[in-house]
Amino acid sequence: MSAWHIGVIGGSGLAEGIGLEGAQEIAVESPFGAPSSSVTTGTLDGVRFTFLPRHGPGHAIPPSDVNYRANIDVLKRCGVTDLVSLSAVGSLREEYAPGHFVCVDQMIDRTEGRARSFFGSGMVAHLALADPVCPRLSELLALSAHHAGGTVHPKGAYIAIEGPQFSTRAESRMYRGWGADVIGMTGFPEVRLAREAELPYAMLAMVTDYDAWRDEEAGVEAHEVFATMKANAALARAAVRELARLLPPVREASPIDRALDGAFATAPAQRD
Ligand code: ADE
Repeated sequence: MSAWHIGVIGGSGLAEGIGLEGAQEIAVESPFGAPSSSVTTGTLDGVRFTFLPRHGPGHAIPPSDVNYRANIDVLKRCGVTDLVSLSAVGSLREEYAPGHFVCVDQMIDRTEGRARSFFGSGMVAHLALADPVCPRLSELLALSAHHAGGTVHPKGAYIAIEGPQFSTRAESRMYRGWGADVIGMTGFPEVRLAREAELPYAMLAMVTDYDAWRDEEAGVEAHEVFATMKANAALARAAVRELARLLPPVREASPIDRALDGAFATAPAQRD
C-alpha cells in the first residue's frame, strides 16, 4: 500500500488552469536524452499529479520525434506510480463520435523506427503485454470522464500509426477490418515503455474526427482535429480533477508494479 502519484502525459497547456495546488515546474534530466518538456507537479484534492506535455511547449514535437523513453523515465524518476495518457484519436466506428471519450483497452502497433525498449544488448527482457492497459486505472478514468459530463466508451482497440500524415481511405478501412476502433500516433512505444518501467498505464482517448473510412465525407483535416481538441480541453481537465476525487485513499499494489519479475532472459547477477 502506498500513496497515489499520477503522471499525466497529454496536451500542451493541460496543467495550466487545472487548479494544481503548490504547482512547481521542474526540469528533470534523463540518461535517455531530453524529455518533451519540464514537468509540472502539484496536488489535486490531496493527490500528487505530475504533468508532462507530450509534444512539448507550443506543440512543436511531431509524434515520430517525441523522446518516449526520456518522457517515461523522468516521470518514473519523479516517483509517479500510475500513468494516464490523454490522446486525441480518430474514430473508426460510427458510434464513437467526435467529442466522445474512449477508455482504450487494447492496442495495435503500426509505428516504425521508434526507440521501443529501455533494454537492449547485454540485458534482454521480454515483457508480457497481452493486456497493455491497467484495468483498475482505466475503470477509474472512465468513471471520472463520465462524472465530468463526457460521453464515455469504456472499451476500444487503439491503433498507432507512424504519421505525421493521416491515413488513406484504404488504410482506414483496413484498420477497421483489423478490429481497431480508434486511431492515433503516440500510443506506441509509450505503453510498452510504461510497462517496462513497471507503471500501470491507461489511456483516455478523445475522439476528434472520423478518420477517412466514410466514403461520403472528406478526409481528416488537422485544423478540425485541433478545433475539437480545443473545444474539449475543459472536459479533459475536468476528468482529471474527477480522477483525483475518485481515487481510493490508499493505493493497493498492482501486479504491473512487478512487471519485470520473470521477464529477464539475462542472468540476475548481470543485472545488479
Ligand atoms: N489523431 C487524431 N485524429 C487522428 C487520425 N484520424 N489519425 C491518426 N491520429 C489522429
